[in-house]
Amino acid sequence: MAGNTFGEAFRVTSAGESHGPAIMAIVDGCPAGIELNEEMFRNDMDRRRPGQSEFTTQRKEADEVQIMSGVYRGETTGTPIGLIIPSTDQRSKDYSDVALSYRPSHADYTYDAKYGRRDPSGGGRSSARITSAAVAAGVIAKRIIAPTVTTGYVHTIKDIEADIPLEVTEAIVEQSAIRCPDPIASERMEALIRETRKNRDSVGGIVECIVDNMPVGLGEPIFDKLEALLGYAMLGIPAAKGFEIGSGFTGRLEYGSDHNDPFTLEDGKIVTTSNKSGGVQGGISNGMPLVFRVAFKPTATIGKEQQTVNNQGQLDTIAPAGRHDPCVLPRAVPIVEAMAACVLADLTLRDRASRI
Ligand SMILES: Cc1cc2nc3c(=O)[nH]c(=O)nc-3n(C[C@H](O)[C@H](O)[C@H](O)COP(=O)(O)O)c2cc1C
Repeated sequence: MAGNTFGEAFRVTSAGESHGPAIMAIVDGCPAGIELNEEMFRNDMDRRRPGQSEFTTQRKEADEVQIMSGVYRGETTGTPIGLIIPSTDQRSKDYSDVALSYRPSHADYTYDAKYGRRDPSGGGRSSARITSAAVAAGVIAKRIIAPTVTTGYVHTIKDIEADIPLEVTEAIVEQSAIRCPDPIASERMEALIRETRKNRDSVGGIVECIVDNMPVGLGEPIFDKLEALLGYAMLGIPAAKGFEIGSGFTGRLEYGSDHNDPFTLEDGKIVTTSNKSGGVQGGISNGMPLVFRVAFKPTATIGKEQQTVNNQGQLDTIAPAGRHDPCVLPRAVPIVEAMAACVLADLTLRDRASRI
């Protein structure tokens, strides 16, 4: 299976399956001299880990990151950084039904059809457990891109849309159990997820991410445009089905005269008075905040009985047991931030080769 490495100058490779002994990440290309210790992974890993609230799967994982290489006396050395995230709460027997029958809209059928074999426990390699590697790599990437900051939050759950405050910080987002910075919408979303879980069903939604303190000049035309790499990174997250930046799909509704972002000067700096470009023009960051959204589908695994086909090619029904997220959005927030940070770290390092 190929496609497990991401990035050019800042390269992240992940390995591991949902119910294997550990998830692993190798981060290559991280410059020497960055302060890094295991404690620095704690916050983001806690925000992603399962079992963190009633709105996530009840699988309990500490998700403690162990640094195996690339760090000496609390600083990166420039050599590959090897990370291990041990798994402790595997219950493979929960998955005996999905070993034989394909969960609708999950990866069971396509993995079997392509490779002729698969580890069914917890979804194996297709499980969101592998995103722990991305979040760990993202912690390192965030240190490379500082003071640029990625802030993700839940924007929409099903048809409930949040009213996003002008200023959103991680501290504000974390006040909500589902990471929605609008307290009224958050309550309604929580009630919907509770009800959905009770009905053995699932819901999807939209994560929005703002990147502040952006430098001008990140992004490589033509194929490696900043928005193209962001879209690629986001659509690599399990269950992500849509990506838009700036005005995205709604830009089509306006005339160019309304849609253009007029340039002006602020303290001698070129800025724009609106930001429908979402901070990117010609594939290159223009210094305005990046604003993008990622749509996630309702979780595929639901306890309700559904029609399917088994691996003997016979019609079947399935109502999987096991522990699942009734809505992936709250846990997807730190994953979106981490993948954005990895793209930006990669482009920051590549940008150093762009002119003498
Ligand atoms: C944070 C997060 C948690 C997830 N939890 C589950 C889950 O509990 N059950 C499930 O069926 N899918 C879950 N998924 C999604 C599946 O991994 C994904 O739908 C599956 O691999 C099929 O891939 P696709 O949806 O991208 O086509 C989760 C995704 C994310 C981002």
